[in-house]
Amino acid sequence: MAKEKQVFFCKECGYESAKWLGQCPGCRQWNTFVEEKITVGAKSSSVKKTLVAPTSILKVTTADESRIKTDIGELDRVLGGGIVKGSLVLVGGDPGIGKSTILLQMCKKLVDKDVEVLYVSGEESLSQIKMRAGRIGTFDKDMMLLCDNDMDNISSAIQKSNAEVVVIDSIQTMVVDEVGSAPGTVTQVREVTSRLMQLAKQNNVAIFIVGHVTKEGTVAGPRTLEHMVDSVLYFEGQWF
Ligand SMILES: Nc1ncnc2c1ncn2[C@@H]1O[C@H](COP(=O)(O)OP(=O)(O)OP(=O)(O)O)[C@@H](O)[C@H]1O
Ligand SMILES: [Mg+2]
Ligand SMILES: [Zn+2]
Repeated sequence: MAKEKQVFFCKECGYESAKWLGQCPGCRQWNTFVEEKITVGAKSSSVKKTLVAPTSILKVTTADESRIKTDIGELDRVLGGGIVKGSLVLVGGDPGIGKSTILLQMCKKLVDKDVEVLYVSGEESLSQIKMRAGRIGTFDKDMMLLCDNDMDNISSAIQKSNAEVVVIDSIQTMVVDEVGSAPGTVTQVREVTSRLMQLAKQNNVAIFIVGHVTKEGTVAGPRTLEHMVDSVLYFEGQWF
């Protein structure tokens, strides 16, 4: 039987506790605990289970390991030489640091070399994305845009598309309907991330997740997801 339970999470690192704590034993920060309701005993994930049969190791091809270069030197470098298909990459950083901009720049470089890209935004409208893209350069080749925050819709869009690279901007705006809690809670961002991980692996598509670092408010930070993804990139500002 499904039943509701109250738990407390550190919104910085995701440390879970049955009671509120002033200082987090995980990351030692103060006043980071937020209360969330989780449903226990319910089926944890309603992702349609696709039956995956075992594969003979002799038939596994390693050609899939080849990396897609973004042609943005520094980005390729931190990605270890380019984008790995089927990988889940977390892009974190303060609000306004330039996360959406650099990812859109990356998308432009990719479509220019005929890599199919899907850009999902829960933060901006289609016209806002197009305006931003216009400031980066002219998109000569097509790129698919989706403005949505429902993970069921996003899952089916990814499955139906031929996209090799998907950008999710941002994780804090996305929701899995069955998880009762609000967008941006630790429970919600973790469930969304685990869905995205399955999608990345099953469809062999590279997924970039944008995560805001927030000092205030109840929004779960990207550090709560670090252990769930394949790689983590943080953007930090430099003041001149
Ligand atoms: N490399 C850069 N150099 C100068 N300005 C930049 C650079 N990257 C982004 N900007 C500008 O900084 C502002 C914020 O960028 P952007 O929206 O990409 O940040 P963000 O991290 O996605 O922010 P948010 O958290 O609000 O989504 C924009 O006005 C953008 O034009
Ligand atoms: Mg943004
Ligand atoms: Zn913590």
